[in-house]
Amino acid sequence: MNTELIKWPKSRILELFDIENPIVQAGMVWVSGGKLAAAAANAGCLGLVGAGSMNPDLLKTQINKAHALTQKPIGVNIPLLYDKTEEQIKVALNAGIKIFFTSAGSPKKWTPFLKKEGCTVVHVVSTPEFAQKSQDAGVDAVVVEGFEAGGHNGRDEITTLVLLQQLQNKLAIPFIIAGGIATGSSILGALAMGAEGVQIGTAFAATIESSAHENFKQAMCNAQYNSTFLRMKKIVPVRLLENDFAQKVAQAENNCVSNEELLKLLGKGRAKEGMLNGNLQEGELEIGQIVSEIKEILSCTKLVHKLKMEYLEARNRIL
Ligand SMILES: Cc1cc2nc3c(=O)[nH]c(=O)nc-3n(C[C@H](O)[C@H](O)[C@H](O)COP(=O)(O)O)c2cc1C
Repeated sequence: MNTELIKWPKSRILELFDIENPIVQAGMVWVSGGKLAAAAANAGCLGLVGAGSMNPDLLKTQINKAHALTQKPIGVNIPLLYDKTEEQIKVALNAGIKIFFTSAGSPKKWTPFLKKEGCTVVHVVSTPEFAQKSQDAGVDAVVVEGFEAGGHNGRDEITTLVLLQQLQNKLAIPFIIAGGIATGSSILGALAMGAEGVQIGTAFAATIESSAHENFKQAMCNAQYNSTFLRMKKIVPVRLLENDFAQKVAQAENNCVSNEELLKLLGKGRAKEGMLNGNLQEGELEIGQIVSEIKEILSCTKLVHKLKMEYLEARNRIL
């Protein structure tokens, strides 16, 4: 099957981001630096540098790295929950970024400023209600993320399939669906249900170009159907690969410990320790439920080729 001949359904996000495939490589702490964003962009997707784990200087370096590796547009993901947001936004603007994905906060604060700067703004949410509020705040598109997704997660635990149905014909702006998408057939399903694109985290975290530690990538390949759980629901819900640390959290939660005790258990730097430094026992390993389907570490080019092949096969099956 020739994936060059692929004809995606009409999608406003292809024009919005000037991309060939309606696929966004998610911004991910410790995982999506300039190398991954550029590789995803070169494979015809929108690549995002994940600013969440970067101080402004590192963010600038990673954006410049991405720009050196691709001529295609790239964007940044900026979680709005840190005190360095303003500096990160300034650094990204000065480095020529025109596409901003904001998350973990209110879209009202930065959208008007970024729009005035001539940027495309997308906000990440986990409910139809917040999708509507983001539209009201003036964003160009939303990412709506199901409870299957890796990383920080909504409290309402709505699954991707349910969100797709809840969102159908509800918004004037395009929506991009995320959470549990790692095959071409799931992309077909999402597009058939009204999404105009998909955001993929876990499958890109498991690529050669991701900066996840090799130990973490190997652990992804070994994951089973039930290897992830949503933890820390009382503080900030996060989906984690099961390990010693995640089990300690589960035990503490079963014992109904206070938020202070949970925060003490989490400590500082665990996500870096796990995902970047490869400490599989005591690190925090953020990953999505669909990690069970990751069997090998591919390059971004091969991953996107595989997704397109699977998309065409699935489409042929139902035509
Ligand atoms: C390791 C990891 C780190 C993540 N970090 C962020 C982040 O910094 N900001 C954000 O908006 N989402 C983050 N996410 C969520 C992704 O952006 C994406 O929406 C999600 O991974 C999609 O679900 P999937 O993992 O099932 O593909 C992260 C996900 C993973 C797996």
